[in-house]
Amino acid sequence: MSNLKGTMEDFIRETCENINREAAGRPVLCALSGGVDSAVCAILAHRAVGDKLTCLFVDTGLMRKDEGNQVTALFRDAYSINLIRVDAEERFLTRLKGVTDPERKRKIIGEEFIRVFEEEAKKLGQVGCLVQGTIYPDIIESGADGHKLVKAHHNVGGMPLDIEFEAVIEPIKMMYKEEVRECGRILGLPEAFVNRQPFPGPGLAVRCLGELTKPRLDLLREADAIFCEEVEKAGLQKEIQQYFAVLPGIQSVGVRNDERCYEETVALRAVTTKDFVTAGYARLPYELIDTAAKRITEEVKGVNRVVYDVTQKPPATVEWE
Ligand code: XMP
Repeated sequence: MSNLKGTMEDFIRETCENINREAAGRPVLCALSGGVDSAVCAILAHRAVGDKLTCLFVDTGLMRKDEGNQVTALFRDAYSINLIRVDAEERFLTRLKGVTDPERKRKIIGEEFIRVFEEEAKKLGQVGCLVQGTIYPDIIESGADGHKLVKAHHNVGGMPLDIEFEAVIEPIKMMYKEEVRECGRILGLPEAFVNRQPFPGPGLAVRCLGELTKPRLDLLREADAIFCEEVEKAGLQKEIQQYFAVLPGIQSVGVRNDERCYEETVALRAVTTKDFVTAGYARLPYELIDTAAKRITEEVKGVNRVVYDVTQKPPATVEWE
């Protein structure tokens, strides 16, 4: 249980007052990731300080299909929030060229993200406050708050930035995910955004095994979008906590137009879980898997095989890297 008391409306009002007090007229910066936590923080901060808020969205080139455009449209157009979108795809892929080791990939992505963020923050000149979307489980998992460390590799407790902010504000740090979603609903976030499935900080990098190239990432994005569309068409998005496509880096022989082909394999992963510490694979209807496999092999150029991951966590993790 979190320490949240009173109604969500009270919480929103008090949080905005607190942000306003802490910001004390200084400019405020908030990093948007595309997830619900940072979205809720940005909207709260915008309510509190209006145009004093600038949001930064770094497009790493490792996002899902259309994600960058959706984030931009929502915050810039629907909420009229000052939003800087940094197109850093080339930069990330250049640094990741030839890298296949999962831990090195994660490290490079984390470092590069911080570098881009710092550069952009410096370009803005004096920025007094940083708003971060840390939530209560982040604090528990990071080992702070007297809890034992659970996962060291996750992006917990914010970014180790080399810039001094006069204040770091964490408006939702006492909330659990469901409370953040509820808060998002009251703040008018569209349902599709409120119910977004979790997406790892390193993005598609942990789902694209082997070297990260734009053509492979584009292929994965297309396959992933088809699978997600089919799960949602079947109305299963609320029952399955995470569902996505993976590119395991396996090529195999197939036959297309009566000719031999040698193409990529796509793995589909769908899990049910309460806490992501353990998870089971979702018992998807065969028809769904069948339609997704047919569509992926027909519509995504370069894929001739689709497999379904039937392992639970542990021993497998949710992500493949
Ligand atoms: P695993 O793969 O560890 O994933 O079973 C459990 C949950 O955590 C997400 N995940 C991450 N989230 N940064 C994040 O913010 C990360 O580096 C990261 N790695 C995994 C994963 O998507 C799942 O929801």
